[in-house]
Amino acid sequence: MDVFVIEGGRKLSGRVRINGSKNAALPLMAAALLTDQPVTFRDIPDLSDIRNMRRLLAELGVQATDADEPLPCVTLRAVDETEVHARYDIVRTMRASICVLGPLLARRGSARVSMPGGCAIGQRPVDLHLRGLEALGARITLEGGDIVATAPGGRLIGDTVFMGGPFGSTVLGTANVLSAAVLASGTTVIECAACEPEIVDLASLLSKMGARIEGAGSPRITVRGVESLGGAEHSVLPDRIEAGTFMCAAGITNSEITLDNCPLDAMMSVTDRLDAIGVHIDPLGSSDDPLRRSCRVSCAETLKSVQITTQPHPGFPTDLQAQFMALMCLANGNAVITEKIFPERFLHVAELARMGANITRMGATAVVTGVKELAGAPVMASDLRASAGLVIAALAAHGTTVINRVYHIDRGYEHLETRLGALGASIARATEEEAAHLMPGAVA
Ligand code: EPU
Repeated sequence: MDVFVIEGGRKLSGRVRINGSKNAALPLMAAALLTDQPVTFRDIPDLSDIRNMRRLLAELGVQATDADEPLPCVTLRAVDETEVHARYDIVRTMRASICVLGPLLARRGSARVSMPGGCAIGQRPVDLHLRGLEALGARITLEGGDIVATAPGGRLIGDTVFMGGPFGSTVLGTANVLSAAVLASGTTVIECAACEPEIVDLASLLSKMGARIEGAGSPRITVRGVESLGGAEHSVLPDRIEAGTFMCAAGITNSEITLDNCPLDAMMSVTDRLDAIGVHIDPLGSSDDPLRRSCRVSCAETLKSVQITTQPHPGFPTDLQAQFMALMCLANGNAVITEKIFPERFLHVAELARMGANITRMGATAVVTGVKELAGAPVMASDLRASAGLVIAALAAHGTTVINRVYHIDRGYEHLETRLGALGASIARATEEEAAHLMPGAVA
């Protein structure tokens, strides 16, 4: 297993382009199951989760053809529509495999998808996905750990579907029901739909394919079902979580950097908190597309502690909670961070404490008391965003940090070490053996 070796204390400078969003790309790719025509995507990031989705789609009869325009692009085409089984082997490596359920059921009339388990960030039920699809007429049973779903008569039937749960709406649940409703007969109204920009991006692709959708980005989405969908071309939304991660990296190292292709319009809650902290985001130039802008990130000398509460969009994203917690470790005062999406998503707290952070967790809230400095240490990546938080802390820490298990980071950040390195950070990927030699006892 690879590790990252980071020497903290370097300032960052220069510019970095934000890649296409992993969380937008996964349901977009699954939507290729809804047609036998080619669907072409630009700016799909090169990540292990994306490679897993390609493997899953290949098993489901989808052919992938890569091309290099100025940006890498891939064309997906369902050439064999007989297979409907998403096997445990793949689903266990990536929970987002669940997003093939809606498209398979809508287009092929049945689906068998291994039930995803929990993960490091807590229990991850799929009851709302299933309830939504049942409201469209699907018959669903659980057999041998698989969700087995059929559309009686081969086609789902539009209806009103409520997607709210104990923690608000569900992003992939909304994606599943939306992708199923586009081919259902009649009209579907999704109430308490997730408003995330990734859902708007999915609706935009589906509309290009011929779907009739209104209200994506609001809590009520109306879908008028059509008989069939065609091919389309689509550029994936830039990754707001990756952009926020680079912003935190600049903030904690007191640096000035420029981000290109940044989805600023989808990041209001993030830039609002950064501004209160003393990390300023200034849009550069004019752009026709508010989701693909350039911006300068600059910082005050001293960072201020703030309150942060994660919420469904347009609230503050849970996927940036760990990175902001790292930033708050070196801010002035006490920050109060409350997690309202995944109340157990705090595995980074103990690892940040190993680097000298002062954090007290009480249930779903953590109080971070800023310290003067962090110290490099061997730490353990536990999940994707927690690991990104550790990288941010390490960039500012005194001395060397070795982050174990960086395969978590590779799930969601493309070549993070190369891109931070190009900005001036001292960060290298190494094998466990190399790291053990460098820092005895650093490798788990
Ligand atoms: N929930 C239920 N029942 C369900 C589905 C969800 O109770 O059937 C609960 C969850 O347990 C959670 C809340 O609802 O408390 C929200 O979960 P959601 O379904 O929205 O999460 P998701 O769609 O499975 C996506 C992202 C996550 C991100 C969440 C929240 C993808 C592939 N994943 O997951 O991203 O944290 O939305 O914004 O889009 C990540 O990128 O690191 C990541 C975990």
